[in-house]
Amino acid sequence: MTAVATTRLPLPLVRRGKVRDVYSVDADRLLLVTTDRISAFDVVMNEAIPYKGAVLTQLTAWWLAQLGHRVEHHLISADTDEIIREVPSLAPHRAEIAGRAMLCMAAEVVPIECVVRGYITGSAWKEYKQHGTLAGETLATGLRESDRLDPPIFSPATKAETGHDENITITQVIAEVGRETADRLEHLARTIYEFGRATAEPRGIILADTKFEFGWRDGRILLIDEVLTPDSSRFWPAASYAPGRGQPSFDKQPLRDWLDAERQAGRWNGEAPPPTLPPEVIRTTSLRYRDAFLRLTGAPLDLAGLGLPEELS
Ligand SMILES: Nc1ncnc2c1ncn2[C@@H]1O[C@H](COP(=O)(O)OP(=O)(O)OP(=O)(O)O)[C@@H](O)[C@H]1O
Ligand SMILES: [Mg+2]
Repeated sequence: MTAVATTRLPLPLVRRGKVRDVYSVDADRLLLVTTDRISAFDVVMNEAIPYKGAVLTQLTAWWLAQLGHRVEHHLISADTDEIIREVPSLAPHRAEIAGRAMLCMAAEVVPIECVVRGYITGSAWKEYKQHGTLAGETLATGLRESDRLDPPIFSPATKAETGHDENITITQVIAEVGRETADRLEHLARTIYEFGRATAEPRGIILADTKFEFGWRDGRILLIDEVLTPDSSRFWPAASYAPGRGQPSFDKQPLRDWLDAERQAGRWNGEAPPPTLPPEVIRTTSLRYRDAFLRLTGAPLDLAGLGLPEELS
């Protein structure tokens, strides 16, 4: 076994997202399994990236541990042995879940993507360039692409079932969840993002922006889903940061560059089905994810301890 693109576990499947397979354990608990699937330009590749799922899961667990008392969250365990002790039917499936599964408390998902932007890029840059605004609100003039934003901007979006999430105003958030919850979501999202940005920067990674999800559980708001991962955030290499242009992605750049070249050569039209990835692109992408993990946490992804196969070359 090299990488895991799909899991088939003996639990009711709740959903298969672009990257995660979500199972129900019981009325109170979910198993979130991050596969090694990867998407770029909104297309899911046919090949999976070794260790990507474990990086995303273990990074989420690491951030939650770092955040400590700052926020209540949904994670019960990301430790494979512990998960199997809790859910013994998973024992024969250890290889499929090793390092990549999170046992979580099920929550009622708040239907808002809590986006925080500490640098102006992507769709935010596009809107600012055209209208000088973000989500309808006016920003300072003279910002350059990729400029740092202080304070960061809370720019919530709807959780679209299909297609792209749509930016919404705070007024719309209040209409959806009430002022008290809206204020709490904004406060939590800002606190966690600013903690993440300040933690990552001296370690060589700029967390340009990120998206959090929250859920209700027993009358309390919990941080749910993945946290400050390369899939939920933009990671930029701090060493090459320079405003006035777009920045390379720390994790996906080798893949994006290769796909761009395929497109320019007329071998790919930019839509599904994707082209077949060469082994070198898979290998360098896998290395990038593990490098991000090492830089942030200060320790390499523990392959043996997670029950993962030895490094694939
Ligand atoms: N503790 C939790 N309780 C309930 N739902 C959760 C919890 N944590 C995460 N989720 C939900 O599980 C799903 C995770 O799946 P995933 O991230 O693959 O899907 P997605 O982001 O909705 O879609 P896609 O990845 O295909 O764009 C999300 O819908 C998320 O809202
Ligand atoms: Mg998701």
